[in-house]
Amino acid sequence: MDLIPRPTSVLRRTGGFRLTPTTSLTAGPGAEGAAALLRDLLRPATGLPLAPAGVARGNAIALRVDERAADLGAEGYRLDVSPERALLTAAAPTGLLRGVQTLRQLLPPEAWGDRPVRGVRWELPCVSVRDVPRLRWRGGHLDVARWWMPPSFLFRYVDLLAAHKMNVLHLHLTDDQGWRMEIERRPRLTEVGAWRSHSMAGALAEERYDDVPHGGFYTRRELGDLVAYAARRGVTVVPEIDLPGHTQAAIAAYPELGGELPGPDEPVEVSPRWGVHDRILDPGEASLDFCRDVLEEVLDVFPSPFVHIGGDEVPTTRWRASPSVRRRARELGLSVDGLHGWFTGELDAWLHARGRRTVGWDDVLVAGRARPLSEGAAVMSWLGAEGALAAAAAGHEVIMTPYDWTYLDYGQAEGPGEPLSMGHVTTLEKVYAFDPVPAPLTDAQVLGTQGQLWTEYLPTPERVEYAAFPRLCALAEVAWSPPAGRDLGEFLGRLRTHLTRLDRMGVRYRPPDPLSSSAPPTD
Ligand code: ACM
Repeated sequence: MDLIPRPTSVLRRTGGFRLTPTTSLTAGPGAEGAAALLRDLLRPATGLPLAPAGVARGNAIALRVDERAADLGAEGYRLDVSPERALLTAAAPTGLLRGVQTLRQLLPPEAWGDRPVRGVRWELPCVSVRDVPRLRWRGGHLDVARWWMPPSFLFRYVDLLAAHKMNVLHLHLTDDQGWRMEIERRPRLTEVGAWRSHSMAGALAEERYDDVPHGGFYTRRELGDLVAYAARRGVTVVPEIDLPGHTQAAIAAYPELGGELPGPDEPVEVSPRWGVHDRILDPGEASLDFCRDVLEEVLDVFPSPFVHIGGDEVPTTRWRASPSVRRRARELGLSVDGLHGWFTGELDAWLHARGRRTVGWDDVLVAGRARPLSEGAAVMSWLGAEGALAAAAAGHEVIMTPYDWTYLDYGQAEGPGEPLSMGHVTTLEKVYAFDPVPAPLTDAQVLGTQGQLWTEYLPTPERVEYAAFPRLCALAEVAWSPPAGRDLGEFLGRLRTHLTRLDRMGVRYRPPDPLSSSAPPTD
């Protein structure tokens, strides 16, 4: 069966449930969305109508929300398959969406294609599956700021996340190299900030550039469509507007946001180079007004309870050189560096007052301490476990994103033949061995984990997929499956089957190295 992520428990029985043109699909109250998703997923390859019972008179697939199954939580499900009936039960509609993905994995891999296939016996093995996720936030981060990606790819990435029972798409929408979200009140953000004249053509240290202008942005409508598409698959799109650092594209659009230094200053362009930039937002009222204008529109488009305001890598060189910033710090009784935490605190309080939960990279803890984060704010710990421990001690939930383990833009193997990347290597085996709950934290304090795809060296969807897969399959299992029983050889055996599914979807993954010596697929 080779399910990924591995379910909590699976009992295999003899026999199978054959899907034919007379198989019915019935959805109880609350299960309509999951039934529609199942039909949508299976129709292209199988052509099966899966009509409601009464119209179809063969064996039956039934989807039910049963509030009494509270032990399954918000996302768990049970799947009981006998030759006559495949019954999917969950306590909530989202659980059914997860179960639908299991049902799809139980079918032959040909079911994963987008063209009709003939001559395949569409049969589910008879099983009883009970499956409840370990962690609540199982995410995929995608940086669309360094390189714009077509909306069709964002939809596909949502499909791929959902297929692995991941439930968050964290969209990194803004950075020094591009601003990707249309903001009606600040049109220059995309008129100017979404385009750059050239880009780095080699490794950071080489300082080589191409001369190819490019860019793009997403309209509010496009992003709204993405949000709705993801919601139908049980995936929440969490927007990130990175503030107050990583804002050179915004400053190129509105130079006054960068503040003033005594003496002449260089003009600001949307940055063609990677790395940390010291052109950051001036920590004054005009910048706060700007951030609130942007966030108002972000809240309009993204219903996500969580809104990410970045907060990473905020060099204060320019702030320290600016008399007006130094004055502001003095007035607030802060150090200049403390303005970072203060600025974040202002935005956090603003989001909190609007019923949203702030997420910030763990730099927001290390940098400021000027003001505690609001209740409900969560910290994304990329620098290691230290930020997570500090955040948890202050009562915040954490999302574990340490770069060593979860930055999927890092190389996948040493040696030649791999595409250019940041230079570090994080192998599939390493991701599979990741412990997302650092001692002494408990599962309850860790909201979850996610795989990061920073795209400096991933300019196309093809390159993104190569970086993401199969490491994201491993991370999905880390986030979803019980840690007891995690076994690399056994996982690699299941992965071999799973990759035949991704083949049918045309996913351009990196074939794993140790596959030839790994365990054979299990039944
Ligand atoms: C980060 O990698 N700067 C969050």
